[in-house]
Amino acid sequence: LAQDCASRKGQACSLKELEELRIEFLGRKGKLAQIMGRLGKLDNADKPAAGKKANEVKQAVTDLLDSWEAALQSAEADQALSRFDPSMPGRKPWAGSLHPVTLVMEEIASILVGLGFDHVAGPEVENDWHNFEALNMPPDHPARDMQDTLYVSDKIVLRTHTSGMQIRSMLAGKPPLAVIAPGKVYRRDSDLTHTPMFHQIEGLLVDRNVSMGDLRGTLTVFVRKVFGPKTEVRFRPSFFPFTEPSAEVDISCAVCGGKGELDGKPCRVCKGTGWVEILGCGMIDPNVFKSVGYDPEVYTGFAFGLGVERVAMLKYGIDDLRMFFENDVRFLEQFA
Ligand code: PHE
Repeated sequence: LAQDCASRKGQACSLKELEELRIEFLGRKGKLAQIMGRLGKLDNADKPAAGKKANEVKQAVTDLLDSWEAALQSAEADQALSRFDPSMPGRKPWAGSLHPVTLVMEEIASILVGLGFDHVAGPEVENDWHNFEALNMPPDHPARDMQDTLYVSDKIVLRTHTSGMQIRSMLAGKPPLAVIAPGKVYRRDSDLTHTPMFHQIEGLLVDRNVSMGDLRGTLTVFVRKVFGPKTEVRFRPSFFPFTEPSAEVDISCAVCGGKGELDGKPCRVCKGTGWVEILGCGMIDPNVFKSVGYDPEVYTGFAFGLGVERVAMLKYGIDDLRMFFENDVRFLEQFA
């Protein structure tokens, strides 16, 4: 083994083989120890010279093994270096990214700002008057049951919708008005398709001679900017206390292309109908104008409220609302 290692200049000798050699020559029962053991039997006169020689041999063997080991280690390092390609692009550290709800909210807001709406923000802790009463929902109005309210105290609620911002905006300004108010809303509701907190974007436009046609046109343009020019839009009659007439807007499902099925199965997002509801809207009810001191004989307007998570689910083909709130990095990093 020693000869073999020597002939290969230590290069092909493994570290394990070197260790075996070290034990064979320098170990407690190794060759050198045996020779040292016999020194005692020599004539006293010969002992110093023989002892000196034995130590020299030990040092020489040690040096040889050490140099082989160093050569071996540097050969291994060279090999590792030859596998290293300094021209490879570096790996970027994960630096976080915007949440898909934020991305969609910013995209929608920028489209509506492009259409001339101003961006406003208001409180999530709201009083009963802005959230309900001024929106044509007096204290015992049955429509209050449409929304499961989280109460902070008797007259203070976590806003159940962003519609209170219609009131705040009309009180803060005067027509012509065009505002959007994105933000968090809260409801006592939690199941597969509802979370106690979610996001809405409110839109409000007030001027003279605003018609249902303006509402339809604005929302159709808006929806096609978000989901693509081929998106179909459907207005269904509905009811909200603060709009008259009211409508809910469905769009053709962006996940299955409105076909209702995906790979031979009912589409998981639109449940096979080909349509998904994305917002509620309508013409401002005269009673709402009265509560902010606007003359309903002079002004007309429209409002709409849109669910941001719903839009994000459609846009990205996500079928489980909980994904947005679990904050699993494997989910979030896909939106980087
Ligand atoms: N605020 C309503 C909701 O939360 C949506 C809506 C807004 C409807 C504006 C009409 C006008 O469901």
